[in-house]
Amino acid sequence: MTTNGSFQLFSSSDDKPSLGLGFLESSEPPLPPPPPSIEVLSSEVSPSVKYTVEPVNLDGLTLLKGRVSTKEVLGLPNSDLVPGIYEGGLKLWEGSLDLVKALRSEIQNGHLSLKGKRVLELGCGHGLPGIFACLEGAAETHFQDFNAEVLRCLTIPNVNANLAEKSQPDNASEARFFAGDWGEIHQLLPHAHESEMNSEHGQATGYDVILMAETIYSISAQRNLYGLIKKCMIHPHGVVYMAGKKHYFGVGGGTRQFLSMLEKEGVMSATLVTEVADGSSNVREVWKLSYK
Ligand SMILES: C[S@@+](CC[C@H](N)C(=O)[O-])C[C@H]1O[C@@H](n2cnc3c(N)ncnc32)[C@H](O)[C@@H]1O
Repeated sequence: MTTNGSFQLFSSSDDKPSLGLGFLESSEPPLPPPPPSIEVLSSEVSPSVKYTVEPVNLDGLTLLKGRVSTKEVLGLPNSDLVPGIYEGGLKLWEGSLDLVKALRSEIQNGHLSLKGKRVLELGCGHGLPGIFACLEGAAETHFQDFNAEVLRCLTIPNVNANLAEKSQPDNASEARFFAGDWGEIHQLLPHAHESEMNSEHGQATGYDVILMAETIYSISAQRNLYGLIKKCMIHPHGVVYMAGKKHYFGVGGGTRQFLSMLEKEGVMSATLVTEVADGSSNVREVWKLSYK
């Protein structure tokens, strides 16, 4: 299953499911240093990469998603991810669709409003949950991915495609895009505590709502991800909506393992929002995290 350091980790909505045991069978090589953290401007859409758009139907809500070639964008074979180099942002993973559906039902049930909120989508890839937040009237939506190329070739075009018709200029959500590793990106995120902007202006703010789908597969990255959440989530009313698999077989991460780390620290509590059993041996879940 492992080819040139890349591997099929788990199923995406683009592909047939794979078991992804190759990672366990091989010894884990040390990761290269992460790419520098940068803000990618919405004007920096890559002009040379072919981008085609198609609809995704989410129980009656239609969003648009692009399709690009991993080889054309990153010069890599069509792999799920290459640890430390490409972390899977060019594919649409099932969890992001679960997350949009869960947000929609949270809004319909009166448990959530995104209007006027500061929203951050971590590990955005296609960015559909963040796009949904823009469409629901978020004041600001910030998208983060490991790879700047993902933002330039896919996330920004997706945001443009979805917002082109639906958004009104007077209440448009401000969308911004940030590339970099979870261990460092807080320095650039405008509303993170300890960000360079906040230290300049002397104000620590925070995000009202943090969204993330399929970001907790790697145990080694989870500490940084959790640390970043604590630096970004506004106190006391901030919430995180997290979608992922209960277990990522072969890599050790998963919602339950991530939540046990949270429970040990005792800062946040978690509520199960949805559970999706798709007939396979695994279960996908959406959780809501908030401060205790
Ligand atoms: C499996 S993809 C999921 C993409 C998207 N959320 C979805 O569900 O379709 C994992 C995402 O997390 C990001 N990611 C993974 N490890 C990261 C790290 N160490 N630092 C920053 N981003 C990371 C990747 O860039 C990618 O966007």
